[in-house]
Amino acid sequence: MAKTTIKQLRKKEQPLVMITAYDALFAKLFDKEADMILVGDSLHMSFYGADDTVSATMEQMIYHTKAVCNGASESYIVCDMPFGSYKNPETALDNAMRVYKETKADAVKIEGNKPKVIKKLTQNGVAVVGHIGLLPQNARSEGGYSVKGRDEEQKKRIIKDAKAVEKAGAVLLVIEGVKADVAAAVTQSVDIPVIGIGAGKETDGQVLVWSDMLGFFEGFTPKFVKQYMDGASKVRKAVAHYAQDVRDKEFPQSEHTY
Ligand code: KIV
Repeated sequence: MAKTTIKQLRKKEQPLVMITAYDALFAKLFDKEADMILVGDSLHMSFYGADDTVSATMEQMIYHTKAVCNGASESYIVCDMPFGSYKNPETALDNAMRVYKETKADAVKIEGNKPKVIKKLTQNGVAVVGHIGLLPQNARSEGGYSVKGRDEEQKKRIIKDAKAVEKAGAVLLVIEGVKADVAAAVTQSVDIPVIGIGAGKETDGQVLVWSDMLGFFEGFTPKFVKQYMDGASKVRKAVAHYAQDVRDKEFPQSEHTY
């Protein structure tokens, strides 16, 4: 199949599918099923073992985005901009240019209502995916993760954020950790596709973090994650089997020997 372009990622009857990936191996496995692959800075937690995403760097994001681009040939690829890399429009442009020049990513993702940053990038030819609602890069300053849009005032603010991000030129919007009615209202309020995570079923698509949905990340499992596989226990069992085989001299056998 041909490469998915932004023109194909429209609001449609059938929801759009986004999944995160951090390397070529898994990107290749996900490529046929997903419309979009997000190289999320969540990799800093699940791959690197950090407590939050705040200390992720441009170098990490570029390295992992290159790897994902090596593995996926069809999906639309989005690179997450790490905390501090878009603190003003000029810094954002320098860093987003690096993403475009050093990787084959189709777009960068920016957390929050940052119209000046989004405008600067789009005016300079970089496609931007917005991210509103619960912003993981604020977890340290807010002292954790909490569902947003719990009252009318927050709901209005989130809808306002969505409209501002769209007006600034974003091509897609991720909405995270909000009440389902808020995500539904946002989806109705903007023309760009809205991809939800922990945001109910009324959005234009869904995204999940691969290591959560495949059961590899055991730190914690948010309520919104559906686990499609028990990855961690499958891997543990397989590695224990291998270790036992080596200790028992059951491996290697003649078929594994030159
Ligand atoms: O970093 C990430 O994986 C994300 C998703 C939670 C949307 O931003």
